[in-house]
Amino acid sequence: MTDIQQVVPEPRQAETRFRAFTARHLDTLTQRAGLSDAERLAVRAVATVLPFRTNSYVLDELIDWEAAPDDPMYRLVFPQPDMLPGSDVSRMAGLLSENAPESRIHAAAHEIRMRLNPHPAGQLLLNPPSLEGRPLPGLQHKYPETVLFFPRQGQTCHAYCSYCFRWAQFVDEPDLKMATDDIGTLVAYLRELVATKRRNPADDLVSVLLAAGDDALTTQELLSSLFQLVVAGHDTTASLIGNGVVALLDYPRQLQALLADPGRMPAAIDELIRFTAPVPHATFRVTTEPVTVGGVEIPAREQVLVCLGSANRDPGRFPAPHALDIGRGDGTNLGLGHGIHYCLGAPLARLEARVAFEALLGRHPGLLLAADRDALTWTRGDGLVLRGLTSLPVVLGPSSIPAKSRRHR
Ligand code: HEM
Repeated sequence: MTDIQQVVPEPRQAETRFRAFTARHLDTLTQRAGLSDAERLAVRAVATVLPFRTNSYVLDELIDWEAAPDDPMYRLVFPQPDMLPGSDVSRMAGLLSENAPESRIHAAAHEIRMRLNPHPAGQLLLNPPSLEGRPLPGLQHKYPETVLFFPRQGQTCHAYCSYCFRWAQFVDEPDLKMATDDIGTLVAYLRELVATKRRNPADDLVSVLLAAGDDALTTQELLSSLFQLVVAGHDTTASLIGNGVVALLDYPRQLQALLADPGRMPAAIDELIRFTAPVPHATFRVTTEPVTVGGVEIPAREQVLVCLGSANRDPGRFPAPHALDIGRGDGTNLGLGHGIHYCLGAPLARLEARVAFEALLGRHPGLLLAADRDALTWTRGDGLVLRGLTSLPVVLGPSSIPAKSRRHR
């Protein structure tokens, strides 16, 4: 998903901008909570073993510092000395006090982590699918019917909970992590899955696709469909959310109209799909016979790429097509495709976008760009079928939820 991150040349509202805080900020932060020298050292000692990361929103908006260190939000995010045996806390605190070299601290932390039973259900051994007797790293069966793919660059979070049961994913221990950057692993898994279901069909989607009518899909087509099912819902919806935020900020009157009447959200989302083209082109088609389009004859068996984004700017179909207008009334456009390949995830995409925009605009109606508009780039995705922002720096602006009720929710 497009990172909504803060890259602020000149922050317009410094108090609301996103900033990450890590273990090196712990001492200052725990001073703010009123901890003594010894207590602060103990917190830092725990953070050599378990991950700590939080952000300015949690610190400035969610934690009640007057109630810290007992404030529940503070406890949720900050390492607590009783999370480790006292002897381990003392040992790590001792190493920190004597400024021990990084390698000694890491070795001691590693030894403690291994005792903490990082994968209590044997996930690394028992859950990965295997191929020809070898486990596939970075893949997990959470349930027999599902497969999870853990992209290496995705193993982070904007704020770790101190009691995160997935802590092993976030510490500096490559051997403990479920992660891969080899997409070939997933392809190999899907290939094997198709072969297995061919031999033993069951009551599942792959078997249904395998049995699809007389015109059965080839293995290649089936793999392509399965892979699309896995990936089609990620960058697409994320790009719609990012692209949509920019479009609404470009058209403040439309944004105001939407804020004034949130009931217009479904129509606004269809207009954002039309206007921002998260999927600007359909996937490749091949002509089965000669066809003439716009006076040009395309012979049979030629590859054709349909530009959905262009069709959605057809002035004959959409008056003033280059303007965002959430009041167009008729939501139908080609942004989710057409015909038998019409987006399988269309209802989900609309729902996800609706939840995201309602939450974001509901909480931060004063959202602003935190970068020069001209500096935004759309390099995410393949540039052909996917069109998304590289990053979207924003200033959230004041929250519409009063601080008090936020704290005690
Ligand atoms: C804003 C978000 C999305 C947009 C703009 C979008 C757009 C599209 C488009 C234009 C097509 C047709 C491609 C073609 O004709 O070649 C398509 C197909 C497809 N989409 Fe989406 N999509 C979105 C979200 C999703 C989600 C959330 C899922 C699933 C979880 C999904 C799954 C699929 C699948 C499986 C197909 C292939 C259908 C087929 O070939 O029969 N999409 N999508």
